[in-house]
Amino acid sequence: MKFFIETWGCQMNDHDSEKLSGMLDKQGFAPAASQEEADLVILNTCSIREKAVHKVYSVLGRLREEKLQRPLIVGVAGCLAQQEKDALFKRAPHIDFVLGTMAIQQLPRLVEEARARHKRVIDTQQYPDNHLFPPEVTQRRDTAKALVTIIEGCNHACTYCVVPTTRGPERHRPYEDVLAEVRQLVKDGYREVEFLGQNVNSYQGGCNFAELLDRASEIDGLEWIRFTTSHPMNFTRELAQTLVSNPKIAPFLHLPIQSGSDAVLRRMGRHYTVDQYLERLGYLGEGRSRFSLSTDFIVGFPGETDEDFEGTLRVLETVKYDTSFSFVYSPRPGTPALKMKDDLSPEIKSERLSRLQARQTELTLTSNRALVGQTLEARIESHGPTGQGLWLARTAQWRNVHLKTGEGRQLPFGETVRVKITEAGPHFLRAELD
Ligand code: 5AD
Ligand code: SF4
Repeated sequence: MKFFIETWGCQMNDHDSEKLSGMLDKQGFAPAASQEEADLVILNTCSIREKAVHKVYSVLGRLREEKLQRPLIVGVAGCLAQQEKDALFKRAPHIDFVLGTMAIQQLPRLVEEARARHKRVIDTQQYPDNHLFPPEVTQRRDTAKALVTIIEGCNHACTYCVVPTTRGPERHRPYEDVLAEVRQLVKDGYREVEFLGQNVNSYQGGCNFAELLDRASEIDGLEWIRFTTSHPMNFTRELAQTLVSNPKIAPFLHLPIQSGSDAVLRRMGRHYTVDQYLERLGYLGEGRSRFSLSTDFIVGFPGETDEDFEGTLRVLETVKYDTSFSFVYSPRPGTPALKMKDDLSPEIKSERLSRLQARQTELTLTSNRALVGQTLEARIESHGPTGQGLWLARTAQWRNVHLKTGEGRQLPFGETVRVKITEAGPHFLRAELD
């Protein structure tokens, strides 16, 4: 029996798929190279925006056709599963099982029930030990960086966001468990970890997030620690101090602002003003210049005026983010923003998005160009598409590097090398070995 998992969404979902793979492996399934070869297909879904949901339904449509041709078990996991629960069976009766985000350890049982041809197998309960997944079961994808859960869920209630519903309230993994997993990963050869959570900086698993970072950084052999994602209201002076003073923390900070208008931020339920956000970024002090800064923006939130949007553009100019992720507001089921009057035309929303993204591209290019001529450390992540002396690597600041070595040269996967930046585009840097 072979399985195939298709994953959408964030790193939390990527990592959940690694956990699902590990459980299937233990159950005797082998990975399939493609969906067509699989006896069991799991869609690990995202529901953050409507577009993500459409993609899932389109794959489900294709799988219905396939199920007419051959025996196939179809399971839906992830945020759409948690959000829709058994309503999914109504919309797509060919689904065999639905697995919620807080019940992933129940996968083997659901698979067995589906194989025994039980109908509409579902578990979307919240298990209190979901975040205590046994790390030795996880089957990691072949990446240079290992993902490590530290907290699940979110206690904020941003009015546009499905996550509090789809991932539940915060559950913190004890710091001893996190450190034990990191130690093992380093023994297995990893030099880089990424701590994961919907809101890592509210971590309280026996110590706070700054303390967890410091403790993890004491592990010999670990080189870079990354983390995602953070809420500005939990970004403390203490944490900023740790980030700038601890050399093992990769100098990349993703701190979502969402909007540059206080009125919009209030309606979004973000609980900060633009000035308060900027003040918190300022906690980085002199160390800030070493950091690559990144953020998320939502444009076209209900009631966003031209002036509100100009505020967002102003924030972009003030902070000069090295990179940002921006999206048009997407109404989500069960969220408070759904009831807000939204009379902006789709054209205005997408025009605002284009303006924001065009300006960000210029800023990213400027920030990348400033690196030309510099020598940086970069970790080898894979070889290029042709394998002919082209390597893909990442700098500590999480910038993509296309590294040219000439044919025949072998570079060890996961190692850091010193590279000299020769050219910069908005999406990657070109480099050669120093
Ligand atoms: N519409 C558009 N973007 C959203 N995000 C979250 N919810 C929505 C929504 N309903 C964006 C936010 C968040 C990122 C992960 O996705 O910017 O930070
Ligand atoms: Fe998508 Fe959010 Fe769920 Fe991640 S947590 S998969 S971004 S809805």
